[in-house]
Amino acid sequence: MALSWSHTVIIVKDEQTMLDFYTRVLGFQVTDRGPIADDRSIIFLSQQPDEHHQVGFLLGRAEAGPSNSVAHLAFRTDDMAELRARIAKLEAEGVAYRPTSHGNTWSVYFQDPEMNGIEIFCATPWHVRQPQGEVWNTRLSDAELRDWTEATFKSEPEFSRQEDYIARRRKELAKT
Ligand SMILES: [Fe+2]
Repeated sequence: MALSWSHTVIIVKDEQTMLDFYTRVLGFQVTDRGPIADDRSIIFLSQQPDEHHQVGFLLGRAEAGPSNSVAHLAFRTDDMAELRARIAKLEAEGVAYRPTSHGNTWSVYFQDPEMNGIEIFCATPWHVRQPQGEVWNTRLSDAELRDWTEATFKSEPEFSRQEDYIARRRKELAKT
């Protein structure tokens, strides 16, 4: 049996600002909230029906800034239309973002109001050995973007179809 990712809890200073960003800008719903030990409170957020929480806010942090040593939280979209809708929302909200393609993703990176890094990405049809990163043009059409991505990464090691990579990984994992 394998572990699958469920959630991340971050320590938060400004509850209202962070809640507004994660609900209104990113589309999370609050699923529960309440006190825990030490008189601290926790707020649970999710946008997946089968995950009670994908993100938790543990309230009571002294200073706003990147949490501990976590570089970013990453969220996957089902398709490019969803990623484009997310980008349009960030632009409408004036959130600065950095588009980066890892060859196997079309990603955008930005920060929440307390400077925690966030990545939202759509998977490309390909695998390529990591790490990789090139700026991608969010104004390209889906077809243009696929062409650019293939041309940009096809000479990199292990460039292959995503499903072939997954099949290979499945075999490797079955050995353990
Ligand atoms: Fe990432």
